[in-house]
Amino acid sequence: KPQRLLLNIEDYHQQAKSKLPAMIYDFYSTGSDDQLTLIDNERAFRQIKLRPKVLIDVSSHSTNNSINCQTQVLNSTATLSFPCMIAPTALHRLANNEHGELATVRAAVACSTIMCVSTNASVDMKRIADEHHQQIRMNYPQSTSQLWFQLYVLKNRRNTQKLIERAEECNYKALVITVDHCEQGNRECYIRNNFTLPNGIQAENLMDDDNDNTEFGKTYRSDIPIDAALSWKDIDWIRSITSLPVIIKGIIHPDDAREAIRHGVQGIIISNHGGRQLDTCQGTIDALRDIMIALGNDKDQIDIYVDGGIRRGTDILKAIALGAKAVLVGRPILWGLAVDGAQGVQSVLNILKNEFRLAMMLCGCQTIEDIRKNNLLILDNRSK
Ligand code: FNR
Repeated sequence: KPQRLLLNIEDYHQQAKSKLPAMIYDFYSTGSDDQLTLIDNERAFRQIKLRPKVLIDVSSHSTNNSINCQTQVLNSTATLSFPCMIAPTALHRLANNEHGELATVRAAVACSTIMCVSTNASVDMKRIADEHHQQIRMNYPQSTSQLWFQLYVLKNRRNTQKLIERAEECNYKALVITVDHCEQGNRECYIRNNFTLPNGIQAENLMDDDNDNTEFGKTYRSDIPIDAALSWKDIDWIRSITSLPVIIKGIIHPDDAREAIRHGVQGIIISNHGGRQLDTCQGTIDALRDIMIALGNDKDQIDIYVDGGIRRGTDILKAIALGAKAVLVGRPILWGLAVDGAQGVQSVLNILKNEFRLAMMLCGCQTIEDIRKNNLLILDNRSK
């Protein structure tokens, strides 16, 4: 049971750090090389200052019935209780051996948000989908939670196609293709700690009989099965074999954001993989700003999401003010999971939601639309 008062994401981080073995804590927490991007993601948010609007009635007596944090994504096919989703992260059983992703999905349902399940999940995607379905039916019939599937495009395209088909069969509602991982970033902690998967924990979605990636899935050490040849034409191929909406995760350059629109995808996630891939990559909130400027009016053609370094409700507000549809959080979810399973993840999401709601009130915003309209940010101090 938690001992210290856990009031914010950093409290959960510290508590998780004291609980987890160093090898696992380092696997979750660190970035690549000198970890400059990891630091920059958070710092770039901190450097953006808010300029709140006052003397706006944000009480429950006002016309809009106080603060409404709800928002819709993917052409209004999904509703989020607040604009924050669960980023795809590998191997949740390292944080919570007993339930892993099954705990995370319970929290996603309870909080009416989207969980993006990793290709490298430690529970099979079908079991996660069954748990999702079950939780909604039995405990949270009002929940608007959905599952999305994060796809690593494997060298073996038949296995890739099988993953897509399974995701469709299991009722996942979108495919999130991660494109910033043509090779693994230089994560020195893997070498320092001689990172190995504990017995019984493996990447279950790769364990198919005829999948040639089982060795990687079992050990996380042999050749990465992800295809370095991945290019825009493969995005077209994936779009041609699936009816699911396609979202590209790992965009930083404005040219790539334009290219994504040209290729007809439904969304992009501006992301540098939480600072785990290319070090000295631009912080994501700065990239969001540049991409919004570059896209101009075209930005309304797709959903634009951002992840990396979101630790407070004010960070979410800043991302929305800059034009993001919603954000995703990675590590905060893992800290919640390590501290207290499903309850811990639920608490982390509730902390972010309460902070976000308070920030909206203090900025005179009653709806998500108000955040976009109210011109709340001072943007002169770019992160250096
Ligand atoms: C990740 N991330 C990730 N992304 C992805 O597309 N597939 C994956 O399997 C993983 N696995 C993974 C494991 C761990 C331990 C971390 C920390 C991250 C990246 C993730 O989706 C997201 O981009 C970042 O975590 C966002 O940054 P924050 O919120 O962790 O700062």
